[in-house]
Amino acid sequence: MEAKLKELSEKRKSVLDGGGPKRVAAQHEKGKMTARERIEAFLDPDSFVELDAFVEHRAAELGMDEVKAPGEGVVIGYGTVNGRLVYLFAQDFTVIGGSLGEMHAAKICKAMDTAMKVGCPCIGINDSGGARIQEGVDALCGYGNIFYRNTLASGVIPQISVIMGPCAGGAVYSPALTDFTVMVDKTSNMFITGPQVIKAVTGEDVTAEALGGALVHSAVSGVASLMFSDEKATIEGVRRLLSYLPQNNIEDSPLVDTGDDSARLCSDLANIIPDSPNKPYDVRDVISRIFDNGDYFELQPLYAKNIVTCFARLGGRSVGVIANQPNVLAGVLDINASDKASRFIRFCDSFNMPIVTLTDTAGYLPGVGQEHGGVIRHGAKLLYAYSEATVPKMNVIMRKAYGGAYIAMSSRHLGADMVFAWPSAEIAVMGPEGAANIIFKNEIEEAADSAAMRKEKIQEYKDQFANPYKAAARGYVDDVIDPAHTRARLASALAMLLGKRESRPSKKHGNTPV
Ligand code: HXC
Repeated sequence: MEAKLKELSEKRKSVLDGGGPKRVAAQHEKGKMTARERIEAFLDPDSFVELDAFVEHRAAELGMDEVKAPGEGVVIGYGTVNGRLVYLFAQDFTVIGGSLGEMHAAKICKAMDTAMKVGCPCIGINDSGGARIQEGVDALCGYGNIFYRNTLASGVIPQISVIMGPCAGGAVYSPALTDFTVMVDKTSNMFITGPQVIKAVTGEDVTAEALGGALVHSAVSGVASLMFSDEKATIEGVRRLLSYLPQNNIEDSPLVDTGDDSARLCSDLANIIPDSPNKPYDVRDVISRIFDNGDYFELQPLYAKNIVTCFARLGGRSVGVIANQPNVLAGVLDINASDKASRFIRFCDSFNMPIVTLTDTAGYLPGVGQEHGGVIRHGAKLLYAYSEATVPKMNVIMRKAYGGAYIAMSSRHLGADMVFAWPSAEIAVMGPEGAANIIFKNEIEEAADSAAMRKEKIQEYKDQFANPYKAAARGYVDDVIDPAHTRARLASALAMLLGKRESRPSKKHGNTPV
């Protein structure tokens, strides 16, 4: 037995050594941790249980019969984050560049399958040269198997992809199928075709960083949900993200004792909204006053900044918050904002997270670019997502809510359970200027002083329609409230709605606009 135990410990050591000291040093020189170091930093101390450490590839072609690949270039297993179970896999770039072959993929699939069976989040740490070229179609099969599982797991367990190195070619589609893609600034990149192929095909000169770095995917493409400055901050960020989420689609998020009184008054909220309806303000100042301890966790903060999506807590319960951002483009709804918000809503609905909407938008962004870019189908996603969601939906109309944007932003008509309006709310078919110009066109044109008449008619329209009371008179708004009471009223509504049960007509699945 002693000899056998010695053999076991030697075998294990060779797996733990990964690609060897030279490759580990090269990894560190790039400012990157190894797969095992990342896992250790990510999980609670001593909680990691590794599986499949002794899996080996069975490729023989192109010299692979001579190649040893400790751990098959990927470390898988389970552990805990703040005491809660997670499954994870971390690609090991020191072993054949973390490239994905048949058995490497089989390990990842085992992690995913088990996470699904036990109902816990699955986290993938990606750092790979992509399909292992020597394994040809077996590597492609491996990717296909992962994509298939990503899709089956969608809406069942939270899936988070952490990109900590290269992620190229078809490999990018696994992260894209998961719920959140988190990138590290400067050391991670994602693209379908790299700079050399692009140069050959289109003649464009671009660096890997400019093509698919963390910043570009955070601010331009919207592929990344989050980016952090280094690996440590990224790991901390993902741990924090997990704290808001339930383990799976039949559980609720953990109830946290935040110590913040649900009935706390938000006395300064009224001062945040400027008197002039056209003046901007930062809606994040509203969010931080309403939710527990001023804490919130923003997603895609650099993308479609005209809408804010974040997780926060209300009375210790996780909620998803969607808020128009008057500071950017007057909080208009456009293609990217619709895209960002609708995916977030669908995540919240999949995982039983109540949705709080804060409405103040100038409407849909006009423009040829928007129309030709398909704002009709992208905007429809938002309507679809709100209508489809059966979790508790609460809305606070703070200021402007006109026309289609009023309907789209979690209106009663799309199934909101509780709609509050502040006295500053303006709920109507369109804004006073535009409306007066249309309905009082003749009076304005025929007046001796057209400008004065226009002003008078705008005021007349404002007095009659730019307020919350027409909507409240129909019951579309449940109550007009003092902004100071917003937190207390939302917390009370949330507690009341916890038992909400709502079903939709039975179907295979809807045909979401895309
Ligand atoms: C086999 C690979 C590999 C791959 C890297 N390696 N990628 N081996 N298959 N795809 C090996 C290298 O040969 C090297 O081995 C080690 O990993 C480290 O790679 P380096 O090139 O030395 O590292 P670095 O300079 O940091 O460059 C990293 C890289 C580069 C940018 C990722 O390796 C690269 O361009 N790799 C190929 C990327 C690619 O085209 N992949 C296929 C994408 S298509 P040694 O022994 O020297 O240490 C794809 C299709 C998926 O993935 C389709 C799914 C639907």
